Amino acid sequence: MQERYETQISNILIIGSGGAGLRAAIECKKYGMTVSVVGKRNKLDVHTVLAAGGINAAFGNIDRKDNWQKHFADTYIEGYEIGEPKTIEIMTKESPELVKEIDSWGADLEKNAEGLIDQRFFGAHSYRRTCYSGDHTGRQILKALLFKAKSMKIKINDSIYVTDLLVKENVCFGATSFDINTGEKILHLSDAVIIAAGGHTRIWNKSSSRKDENTGDGFYLGLNAGCELMDLEMTQFHPTGMLMPEELAGTLVTEAVRGEGGKLFNSLGERFMEKYDKNRMELSTRDRVAMANYTEIQEGRGTANGGVFLDISHKDKDFILKKLPSIYKQFIDLQKLDISKNPMEVAPTAHYSMGGILVTPDEHKTSVEGLFACGEVAGGLHGANRLGGNSLAEILIFGRRAGKFASLYSNEIKYQQRSKKIVQENFDKIDNRIKNGNEMGRLIEDELQKIMWKHCGVIRNGESLKKGLEKLRNLRIRFNDLDVRVGSHGFSDLSLSFSLDASILTAEATIISALKRKESRGSHQRSDYPMLKLEEKCNYLVKLNDKGKIIVNKKEISPLSNSLQKILKQSKTIDCFKNKLLE
Ligand code: FUM
Repeated sequence: MQERYETQISNILIIGSGGAGLRAAIECKKYGMTVSVVGKRNKLDVHTVLAAGGINAAFGNIDRKDNWQKHFADTYIEGYEIGEPKTIEIMTKESPELVKEIDSWGADLEKNAEGLIDQRFFGAHSYRRTCYSGDHTGRQILKALLFKAKSMKIKINDSIYVTDLLVKENVCFGATSFDINTGEKILHLSDAVIIAAGGHTRIWNKSSSRKDENTGDGFYLGLNAGCELMDLEMTQFHPTGMLMPEELAGTLVTEAVRGEGGKLFNSLGERFMEKYDKNRMELSTRDRVAMANYTEIQEGRGTANGGVFLDISHKDKDFILKKLPSIYKQFIDLQKLDISKNPMEVAPTAHYSMGGILVTPDEHKTSVEGLFACGEVAGGLHGANRLGGNSLAEILIFGRRAGKFASLYSNEIKYQQRSKKIVQENFDKIDNRIKNGNEMGRLIEDELQKIMWKHCGVIRNGESLKKGLEKLRNLRIRFNDLDVRVGSHGFSDLSLSFSLDASILTAEATIISALKRKESRGSHQRSDYPMLKLEEKCNYLVKLNDKGKIIVNKKEISPLSNSLQKILKQSKTIDCFKNKLLE
């Protein structure tokens, strides 16, 4: 490592160059801020591109009765009523404006015969409200944001690994990082920081996240800065991930396949969703479809490879190529399988961190002054089950809000907190990581992912969670003897060591939270507590105490305003017994 470091100064530092980070950066620029956007992945290939099937906005272009109130009710109720009502209200009210905006910036959303943005069905939505561009909506949105950012001269440095935030007396004043290619250390000084660094679903070994993304980095930064993380146990398992090739197991098969008429079958040829949700069938909520797939496989009605069949071959090839071109190509490329002729084999895959850093609904500010969070890294919107298509809406809406309120904060502050000691401690931590050891990062990572799948997977129970926690603690001991070298492979060992640190910490926090929630709600299914419980209709918050130990506290859910209560009264309500997923 080099001795010296470079200093970069901006009003706002944005960590994460995906959709949320870019939308935040654009807003900051509009407010006249200097902005620095940093990310650890190629900016053209961030995780946003994997949100394939669409983005929700209650335009009512196809189903005229749709409106934000119905979108609100669907999101809140299908999230098992523990989502943050105000956050959901904001998302459902603002998404039409931001979807139109992104379309005007070049996202090229599909239009219907009247020239209006087309909308498809996605699971558990009362109406067709998912706007889309084939099955590569996230990629189109990212492209539009990158063009816009370029036109505003926003600089994105996508080879930066942020190691820690700089926080003194609960005020954030920047971060430290290193360049993954050159090893150069960087001191980022800023008035405000926005974390937009994604979730932690890569810590499961079947995941729709790719290698080295969603490793829990954003959660790690938040926890170490003093933030609370809510409902970490709420990991969404997407019902349909690919089974093969094995090294890519979990790769997403978009919900758009079911939205466009795809059917699920078990090995007996039964369309089994009839047993689990006969009204909504394949377009039931993700937690129910994932549980259904999982149950069929566990009970011996799965395919020889351990999946179920997803079939769209009853549709014309031209239709498939128009609506699902990427999935068609994905199966041809990876499995040499023509989905217009054959069914796909699919199984649940870890897909989305529904919990995240506790933020205020309006401003998306954290409990640390000057620190904001948006996108998947932030908690509150989804409760215990996320509706597909809400995440792309989330990144635009709360990216914009975090950008706006971070800018206002920057304009208001009179005094910038600084501490040479804290800067030095952060850089020492980077330097001290480079050492010869007996343990290899990729092997520990592999072990961690297996532990999470086995002990904190689609179905959990107390005993197994405790075993998982014990194994994680042993893994932490092994991690302390990590071999981290700088060599022909550059600084990849170093970035892996930081992401592993983040993954182990967030895995522990997830299991601790999962142990605390003694019920089954949405994506958190416990075989030892198979029912929803009224007394567990709450949020769980984890944080680090002053000794660095993870602690968990119960939080009352936020009350609904009178007007939101009225909206819900006109809607359906959760019936504990009907919604029991486990027998
Ligand atoms: O299935 C999908 O296309 C995923 C979309 C989402 O997670 O919102």
